[in-house]
Amino acid sequence: METFQSLLAKRLSDALAKAGLPNAGELTPATDRRFGDYQTNAALVLGKQRSENPQTLAERVIAQFDIGDLCEPPTVAGAGFINFTLRADAIAKKAGEVLRDERLGVARTKSTRTIVIDFGSPNVAKPMHVGHIRSTVLGDALARIAQFLGHEVIRDNHIGDWGTQFGMVIYGWKNLLDRQSLQRDPLAEIVRIYRETNERATRDPQVREACRQELVRLQAGDRENIDIWNECVAFSMQDFEHVYTLLDVHYDIQCGESFYNDRLPAVVERLLKSGIGEISEGAVVVFFRDQPELANKPCIVRKRDGGYNYATTDLATVDYRVNDLKADTVWYVVGAPQSLHFKQIFEIARREGYSADFRHITFGSILGEDRKLMKTRSGENVPLRGLLEEACKRARKIIEEKNPDLSEADKTDIAHKIGIGAVKYFDLSQYRMTDYIFSWEKMLSLQGNTAPYLQNAYVRIRSIFRKADESAPKIGKSRRRGDTDSSCGELILDDRAEINLAKRLCQFAEIVPQVLNDFRPNILANYLFELANSFHTFYEACPVLKSEEPARSSRLTLCDLTGRVLQRGLDLLGIKAPDKM
Ligand code: ARG
Repeated sequence: METFQSLLAKRLSDALAKAGLPNAGELTPATDRRFGDYQTNAALVLGKQRSENPQTLAERVIAQFDIGDLCEPPTVAGAGFINFTLRADAIAKKAGEVLRDERLGVARTKSTRTIVIDFGSPNVAKPMHVGHIRSTVLGDALARIAQFLGHEVIRDNHIGDWGTQFGMVIYGWKNLLDRQSLQRDPLAEIVRIYRETNERATRDPQVREACRQELVRLQAGDRENIDIWNECVAFSMQDFEHVYTLLDVHYDIQCGESFYNDRLPAVVERLLKSGIGEISEGAVVVFFRDQPELANKPCIVRKRDGGYNYATTDLATVDYRVNDLKADTVWYVVGAPQSLHFKQIFEIARREGYSADFRHITFGSILGEDRKLMKTRSGENVPLRGLLEEACKRARKIIEEKNPDLSEADKTDIAHKIGIGAVKYFDLSQYRMTDYIFSWEKMLSLQGNTAPYLQNAYVRIRSIFRKADESAPKIGKSRRRGDTDSSCGELILDDRAEINLAKRLCQFAEIVPQVLNDFRPNILANYLFELANSFHTFYEACPVLKSEEPARSSRLTLCDLTGRVLQRGLDLLGIKAPDKM
């Protein structure tokens, strides 16, 4: 299905050709909707290129437009913008196409890619905390959207399950472990022994040395240490899995850092052989002498003591993803503090000839009310699991007030959808690069740009259908029977509010692909918010169940389509829409 935007762009290039002009500028949604629905700056761009008056050029192009089936006659505004206002019958027709399309008008992308998305990626022996929300939720939404657009997506959890912390964990396990605590809350006990060892090690060089020894033994494959390590990984994974279940986030593969251990020597060999790496003071190092940004920031891929680094693992990971998984695109959804690291990795990969498109997708921080990094009262990271459970608890309170007659099972289920949805949406509705202040009140509010507000709009639509004698409108019904024949009923759009709502519904297909341009799910979130607003305006202005036919069926159809777009849009953000609340 073609969107209005792509249809108009084609008509524009036809008109330009007829006027003897080359393609130029862009056709975009209007910045000010009072003047139209779409606009183009073509005449402005051409005017500049050819030193001609843009307004005259615009008139010349307008004269060539063959567009009466879609728009009112185009107008020239300002310095030479051409504005387009869609006709109500064209909107009705397009909305009818959207209605009969399972994908709600969203086309599959023509150039599909194999995309590995590296997101979440927590570290073993540390509980997941509030800082993991952004990567996990953003990565999941991008994966859902990319998949919906037709890309091959591989979701990879690059768990930090190897590295120097294990020297301390193993030392702590052997010297400080309390078995009973381990049984009660394994991860908490592992965190405790790790912390305590860390403290001792900073005070006492002997402990430090002992930890180092444990690490060396682990890396050499010592049975006892490997067993301890395995147990710690398993306990951590249990904690992660619990969070992923709560969040409804799933991975295709979870190749932690340890997965790459035996590939590391080959990485270094390769770099030395190609001359990309060199030996410097006993270590193997990659220099970036000709790159101003990285000039003084060499990357050590093998330490003087023979040990490997986080960077070495990431280079092995690049090779695995490109050569074994056949990825042509890799998205790393990882915080900005790792920018330098990824610049180095991408540059080395480029020098080595890996031709995939590597992107580091960064994001801002989550702040507490005090505008500092969100912490618990005692200054520690806020554990994610507890936070998500609290979200559900708070959501339940709201439901109990709003709809006390729901069954226990319904309350639990709906509280989960609303609580988790609220946390996710609060994150995804912000531009990813800005920091935000975590606020229960704001994210759980039934008013404003929140998940509960959108979920409530969906619930309202469902309840209209519960009240309607017929469970679904005529046009919707034939769709459900799998009837895609376009001869079934047309929408009748008379009221301004109806026209606006239908127009918004047609925009869904334009919005979804845009998200991936700069990895901004907030574009979709804001669209859904506007859609819900348009729906409320429509619902206030236009009686649905009490109106006469054929308006009644047409309006029910609009409700149905709004519900489907809301549900699908929320689903692309990883958020569930309950039927009642
Ligand atoms: N585990 C790392 C951390 O918590 C993030 C891993 C990101 N992915 C990667 N391929 N380096 O900082």
